[in-house]
Amino acid sequence: MIELPDFGAARVVQSALKPSKRDFDSLDQLTIVVPKDVTAAQLRALPQGAQLAALHARAKSKDEMVLTSRMSTSHATRVIAAALPVKDSFGTLTWARKLIAQSLQENPVRLGLMTSGLTGADRERALRALVAAALAAALDMPTFKSDKKHKSPKLRSLHVFGAPVVLEDLRAQALGNDIARWLTALPPNILTAAAYREAATQLGKAHSLTAEFLGEKKLETLGAGAFLAVAQGNEQRDAGILRLKYRPGKETRPEVALVGKGIIFDTGGTNLKPFKGMLDMHTDMQGSAVALGTGIALAELEVPFAFDVWMAITENRISGRAYKSQDVVTAANGTTIQVIHTDAEGRMVLADTLALAAREEPKLIIDYATLTGSCVGALTERYTGVFSNRASAYPVLTKAGADSGERVWPFPMDDDFDESLRSDVADIKQCSPEGSGDHILAARFLSRFVPRKIPWIHLDLSAGQHKEGLAHIPTEITGFGVRYTLELLQKQAGSPRELIERLAASGR
Ligand code: BES
Ligand code: ZN
Ligand code: ZN
Repeated sequence: MIELPDFGAARVVQSALKPSKRDFDSLDQLTIVVPKDVTAAQLRALPQGAQLAALHARAKSKDEMVLTSRMSTSHATRVIAAALPVKDSFGTLTWARKLIAQSLQENPVRLGLMTSGLTGADRERALRALVAAALAAALDMPTFKSDKKHKSPKLRSLHVFGAPVVLEDLRAQALGNDIARWLTALPPNILTAAAYREAATQLGKAHSLTAEFLGEKKLETLGAGAFLAVAQGNEQRDAGILRLKYRPGKETRPEVALVGKGIIFDTGGTNLKPFKGMLDMHTDMQGSAVALGTGIALAELEVPFAFDVWMAITENRISGRAYKSQDVVTAANGTTIQVIHTDAEGRMVLADTLALAAREEPKLIIDYATLTGSCVGALTERYTGVFSNRASAYPVLTKAGADSGERVWPFPMDDDFDESLRSDVADIKQCSPEGSGDHILAARFLSRFVPRKIPWIHLDLSAGQHKEGLAHIPTEITGFGVRYTLELLQKQAGSPRELIERLAASGR
């Protein structure tokens, strides 16, 4: 059993007033966002204003100005005044991550946030980015160091001063993202398939999601030969597909299905990966963790629609039992697959999971997967690749990325790409023996397991890992997708139904 931390433990407290002397003294750090053209007089009116004004006079560049002051005599409250740059969502979140890193340098337990001289949209933009970044930074990633003494104190509460801003959605989002990042960071001998299933079940239960596990036996009766081909190489018989259901009303059918790739460790299988390529492959379950985190965030927000989370959980190992090139297997929708390369296991397990999710006739399917190296090759680790069987939906999909700061970029998936997947012995080849455009071919392959009539969005999570973090996220593992999906379902469209209507109206 994995001992789960108290996710989302950092509190957010808003108070409509400016910080009183008492408030100020109770904080360990106060971070104040000011306009770029702030004057010395304006700075002087702030806590520790004289010091800030003096620092301001000496500051070389006022553009990305950060002034740090500390009263040497009184309580150790440190004050940072920083200028808000003009930036898009990604840029604002990146600025917020860096400013929060500076704000947390001395390990404050109570962090105050306010603005001075900013109004309306700018104030909201600054505070929402800082709160998102601070909540993300408050997560303790798993560590297994035996020396616990040197653990520094952790941020426990955020105090936001001044006119209230909407922050509840950010708490739900941070919870979902934390869960995704934390699970993804676990060592693969700790996050075994059985342990993962249990942890996800437990987390789901705490947020009113009910679990159903389809183990290998059950999957055999369902004809899920593509998933089982990958799982057959495992030492333990603990692989399977976990389904979590959220049913807020009388509705029994899911409106949305969130599907994720959950490869506990990807060795490449019989076509073994080299050392460098295999090193980080414990993170190959991130797609399923993002699906889970998104589901938990939606449940936390008490969305009124029913949804399912589907997690395809197995290892991809070498063994005498492992699948191999030229095997032919049959997936749950009857499609026969000619295996080409055992390292293309993600599309195999997703094929059956998508087919099973589609049987429940959801109105929309979104899947998340660290599916291809070629998507990283095409976009780097800064953007995630997006695909859909409703190509004219690409503008709204891209806009959700730009607006949320979790940036996605669309790829084509016209029918003629299938020529590269044509098989002489089966309905389709798993992948092309030639390397180019594998992210596109992988998406084309997956499309064979999603009925045309169901709008489907596929995210190839090339931005799942980025050194030194990405946007507001300070860790290498980014949990990319939770924030994006909330933006897409709740902000861009208002509800899944509206998104689905837009997708339906857009035809192919
Ligand atoms: N999990 C990998 C893809 C991956 C690698 C994602 C690194 C992110 C970072 C996937 O299972 C894989 O190995 N794909 C192969 C496919 C190929 C054999 C057709 C790849 O990309 O090399
Ligand atoms: Zn692989
Ligand atoms: Zn993989």
